[in-house]
Amino acid sequence: MKVAQITEFSIDGITINEIEKPKIKDNQVLIRVKSASLNYLDLLVVKGIFNDQLRLPHIPVTDVSGIITEVGKDVKHFKIDDHVIPTFIPLWKKGIPTLQQLSWELRPSLGPQGFLAEYIAVDETDLVLKPEKLSFAEASTLPIAALSAWNGIKFLNLFAGNTVLIYGSGGVATFATLFAKANGYKVYVAGKNDTTLEKMLTIGADQVFNISNTNWKKDILDATQGKGVDGIYDSIGGENLNNSLDLIAVRGKITTVGLINGFSIPLNTGTFLLKQAHLIGVECGSEEDMKEMIQAITINAIQPVISAVFPFSETKRAFEHLDNGGHFGKVVIEF
Ligand SMILES: NC(=O)c1ccc[n+]([C@@H]2O[C@H](COP(=O)([O-])OP(=O)(O)OC[C@H]3O[C@@H](n4cnc5c(N)ncnc54)[C@H](OP(=O)(O)O)[C@@H]3O)[C@@H](O)[C@H]2O)c1
Repeated sequence: MKVAQITEFSIDGITINEIEKPKIKDNQVLIRVKSASLNYLDLLVVKGIFNDQLRLPHIPVTDVSGIITEVGKDVKHFKIDDHVIPTFIPLWKKGIPTLQQLSWELRPSLGPQGFLAEYIAVDETDLVLKPEKLSFAEASTLPIAALSAWNGIKFLNLFAGNTVLIYGSGGVATFATLFAKANGYKVYVAGKNDTTLEKMLTIGADQVFNISNTNWKKDILDATQGKGVDGIYDSIGGENLNNSLDLIAVRGKITTVGLINGFSIPLNTGTFLLKQAHLIGVECGSEEDMKEMIQAITINAIQPVISAVFPFSETKRAFEHLDNGGHFGKVVIEF
């Protein structure tokens, strides 16, 4: 079978190779992968920024959807021809996780081999059923991007009519906008690119702000009559958290998932105290969260936003498309 492998840490170091099809254990299923979607995290893995000690060659990517073609003899809950999606944090089933359940080393692609392959073997405990109304391409966008947006919006704990600020127009930002609108929030989006900001208006954003305009923060504060926004989903993180503190209302909540603007920063603690802000980290979600989100996607007929679809043979181009920025929604690879 064909797989994409990192042979050296860079996008150019991704090659398509032929390896033996995996053999399943008794508690596993074999999945014929139909679609994969790329996350910002996959860029960090491919470039060796996430973990330069990964043993190469290494198969990247965690988010896929596909069809079960074989089941192990102890598998009870899935059957051949089921359409499925593997979860991203296999040990975290529900509730508050332990640190051990969250460990990076046990997640596909981050420690073990990832899923950018024609066939993958997955424990039956680490799967959910694909929502019927979504295509394989759309379903492959759910495990990381959609789920971190789902929990990031949920933990803001807002009411219909409250204001929320979302950054960018990539994978998580488009999902966050769709979920926030389904809850009846007023959505502001701050981004870098007028073309993709215009597109955010087409999926429900109420007002957009370009951060290259020196007045962008004043414009957002003016839109809230000086009060600040009720909740902020900050998928940029790093230094941008200080912008979020400037923009949050007193006692507002900021959920953060991002590492784009740095891993470690001096936080403006004076503003943090003055605003009495709540800063909440979000790490994707559990299997229970995933099922809850899929139910909401189905009930609200939410359509994931896909920027571009590449054939598997053009995997490198798909990574370059994500790396270049300027995309609107998710980048997908089809087998
Ligand atoms: N903790 C978690 O569970 C979790 C899960 C998913 C994602 N994340 C994190 O969330 C972040 C976004 O992920 P993603 O997959 O959505 O990435 P993505 O598709 O590459 O989107 C990033 C978006 O941010 C925009 N952007 C970059 N810098 C900005 C800034 N200073 N202000 C406003 N917008 C800015 C980009 O604009 P351009 O395209 O114009 O450059 C792009 O629209 C990453 O840091 C990722 O690691 C965390």
